[in-house]
Amino acid sequence: KRVVVFISGSGSNMMALVKAAAASDYPAEIVGVISDKADAGGLAKAAAEGISTFAFVRKDFASKDAHEEAILAQLDVLSPDIICLAGYMRLLSGRFIQRYEGRIINIHPSLLPLFPGLHTHQRAIDAGQRIAGCTVHFVTEGMDEGPAIGQAAVPVLTDDTAETLAARVLTIEHQLYPQSLRLLAEGKVRMEGGKAISLASA
Ligand code: GRF
Repeated sequence: KRVVVFISGSGSNMMALVKAAAASDYPAEIVGVISDKADAGGLAKAAAEGISTFAFVRKDFASKDAHEEAILAQLDVLSPDIICLAGYMRLLSGRFIQRYEGRIINIHPSLLPLFPGLHTHQRAIDAGQRIAGCTVHFVTEGMDEGPAIGQAAVPVLTDDTAETLAARVLTIEHQLYPQSLRLLAEGKVRMEGGKAISLASA
């Protein structure tokens, strides 16, 4: 399956997908990386792997619509089967999401439905959670709301700060995202009626 990854930042999750896809038995290849930030660290990392990279900076476009149109036009060229959001800090419109219905997934650094949105790690600590984690889910119009494909958990330690917890969660993000993309690319999970249907036998 052809996969395009959307990033806004360092792209460590994107690189985890690239590394996983290098294995000969992995069912997906990363055919492009799209960023909404010209200076996203992940762009250079992807380029160094020989992957085509594209930056579409929001302020270069008159409207959100025009910005998305430009991205959609590039996607027409790249022709992805699946789009992976990996630290992409912009909400996609309903129109965009419908165009790739059931084929856009995101990684969020909390155990959804707990703590959607920003500052998840501090909020988990403040709430007194003893575990934290990450979720890979189908993208629907509500932010961080689509059905989950997979989750992974880590302990919250007594002396954790948002930074130390974020680092612990990030290490499992790098495992969960390639696993979840594999399930989707192999057709073992799909979105149906707003739910994730697992067709995996195990
Ligand atoms: C990750 O924690 C991801 O879950 C998120 O933003 C962070 C991106 O990190 N929403 P990276 O760009 O993949 O390194």
